[in-house]
Amino acid sequence: MQIRAKISAVHSYVPDYVLTNDELATMVDTNDEWITSRTGIKERRILKGNLGISFMAEHAVKGLLEKSNTDPKDIELLILATVTADYNFPATANIVCDRLGMHNAFSYDVNAACSGFLFSLDTAARLIESGRYQKIVVVGGDKMSSILNYEDRTTCIIFGDGCGAVLMEPSTDENGFIDSILRSDGSGSKHLFQPAGGSVMPASIESVTQKKHSVYQEGQYVFKFAVTSMANVSAEIMEKNQLTANDVDWLVPHQANKRIIDATRERMGLPEEKVTVNIQKYGNTTNGTIPICLHEWEDRFKKGDNIIISAFGGGFTWGAIYLKWAI
Ligand code: UT7
Repeated sequence: MQIRAKISAVHSYVPDYVLTNDELATMVDTNDEWITSRTGIKERRILKGNLGISFMAEHAVKGLLEKSNTDPKDIELLILATVTADYNFPATANIVCDRLGMHNAFSYDVNAACSGFLFSLDTAARLIESGRYQKIVVVGGDKMSSILNYEDRTTCIIFGDGCGAVLMEPSTDENGFIDSILRSDGSGSKHLFQPAGGSVMPASIESVTQKKHSVYQEGQYVFKFAVTSMANVSAEIMEKNQLTANDVDWLVPHQANKRIIDATRERMGLPEEKVTVNIQKYGNTTNGTIPICLHEWEDRFKKGDNIIISAFGGGFTWGAIYLKWAI
């Protein structure tokens, strides 16, 4: 019999500090009305101090292991999706495993911008389905405040910090991962990226003074591509699996902009109450948005619910997963 993978536990961590639209308006030329109407965001969380994504990942995974009564030594693999790793190398995943005593796990980071968690989830599902692995942790999170220019009102208002994690195991019934469609198109790379800090433009006095280590985004261009891609791929996975709007219980979309979420929902023919939306509280936490939503909604999901998860991000990268909730 074919092995099916399932999410067996979910947890998340967001830092305490709340950066409101009103506080941002004291830093750049913006206002609550503009941010709310253009993005749906009211506030976002910020991780203060010299703490990296590993700090949030450690909290999210610790809670995950505790709530699922999992011995850290039983974890075989940890994949951490992030664009704000503690260091260029080693992988932050290695650091998280060490701190939490997951000494039998191999681990690595994945960078697929905002689609990284979705891509990692699918990879983990295929590894479980292969029969070789029984316990994989997939983490998604970012400390976006570490790569933002708080003088650029077009980007600093969008992003926030946060992290979530899921435990993946073989399913014991028909629930779990059913299907996925994953895509990337590198011709979009120049429209949304972090110019400096990589091998093309290592850190220099110029790169720092010119703020090249911060997110560069052509907002309108990315918006158009994101709306089309996320809506299309979400509709495509429904068609591929003969799902009508009535069959879909939940859409869990990447939280980049409320208008992108609404366009995707409308394309799928879903009512608002079937969509997980918390962008107003956290903004775009990049790899954190989807696992944070899964954690916040876990009490409302029912076993067997048909869930579509979809994302769009830099790269460009995008995709959708269809699963039946198994907890
Ligand atoms: O998760 C990864 C993928 N990323 C995305 O999906 C993000 C996609 N893009 C977006 O969400 C939107 O394009 C933004 C939220 C970034 C911008 O919204 P927009 O409706 O596309 O605004 P715009 O860039 O067309 O700017 C409209 C106006 C401009 O002024 P003028 O030229 O019309 O006078 C901007 O200068 O709004 C101005 N503006 C602002 N005004 C107040 C830009 N940012 C701000 C701001 N506050 N923060």
